Amino acid sequence: MRYVIDRMTMSDVPRVIEIERLAYPSTWPPSAYRKELQDNRWAHYIVLRDKHITEERLVVDQQEQERPRKSRLFPLSLLPSRPAVTVPSPDLAAIIGFAGLWLMVDEAHITTIAMHPNYRRQGLGEFLLVSLIDIAYDIGAKWVTLEVRVSNYTAQNLYRKYGFREAGLRHRYYSDNQEDALIMWTDEINSPGYKQKFQELKSMLLQKLEAQ
Ligand SMILES: CC(C)(COP(=O)(O)OP(=O)(O)OC[C@H]1O[C@@H](n2cnc3c(N)ncnc32)[C@H](O)[C@@H]1OP(=O)(O)O)[C@@H](O)C(=O)NCCC(=O)NCCS
Repeated sequence: MRYVIDRMTMSDVPRVIEIERLAYPSTWPPSAYRKELQDNRWAHYIVLRDKHITEERLVVDQQEQERPRKSRLFPLSLLPSRPAVTVPSPDLAAIIGFAGLWLMVDEAHITTIAMHPNYRRQGLGEFLLVSLIDIAYDIGAKWVTLEVRVSNYTAQNLYRKYGFREAGLRHRYYSDNQEDALIMWTDEINSPGYKQKFQELKSMLLQKLEAQ
């Protein structure tokens, strides 16, 4: 498959922040990710890479760097020197989404999940959520929970598809616009009903992504 889930590392943080700025109205300070990765042993963060993008983006960047500068008005020698283009490392360029959770006793709290706007509606946000739920199983969580803006129907639809249900409201939870948060929970993820539904959805999704 062209899509790969990796554990987030410190070197991924600049690209994660780039995507976060495009995905959310307000963002964490860059130091927050570094702290999460270095100091929070209960935190699990992942990135989603598209192996095909790596080459395309590198080729574009290299062409940019090699293209001769043209000016009808000034001889080249009079133009200010252009800063060197930094070619992103293939690993960073390929990141198109990220997500994370914290384990609190036996509850997995999803803290973030975001796709770059250019790569939405292809099942990849769902792939991130499936990967988080897989992590929840691996680390022994019994339930998965999260907060989502009451206006964020897109994300709510995704969560409902995976069995999350509304369990209450946190009033004025988001400081940027005082919006309420919907609190959502899954059933116990080890219950036969949840496991079966999750496995069905996951295998349908993987088939769809394999075909891309
Ligand atoms: C939420 C988000 C991660 C979804 O990513 P995505 O890759 O576009 O979603 P997918 O293509 O995997 O869609 C999965 C499901 O989400 C829901 N969904 C996604 N886009 C939707 C849309 N525009 N309208 C309604 N439902 C939508 C659907 O239930 C969809 O399942 P379906 O394909 O069977 O209909 C993405 O929109 C995003 O990054 N948003 C900004 C950040 C954010 O709000 N994060 C959630 C914070 S709680």
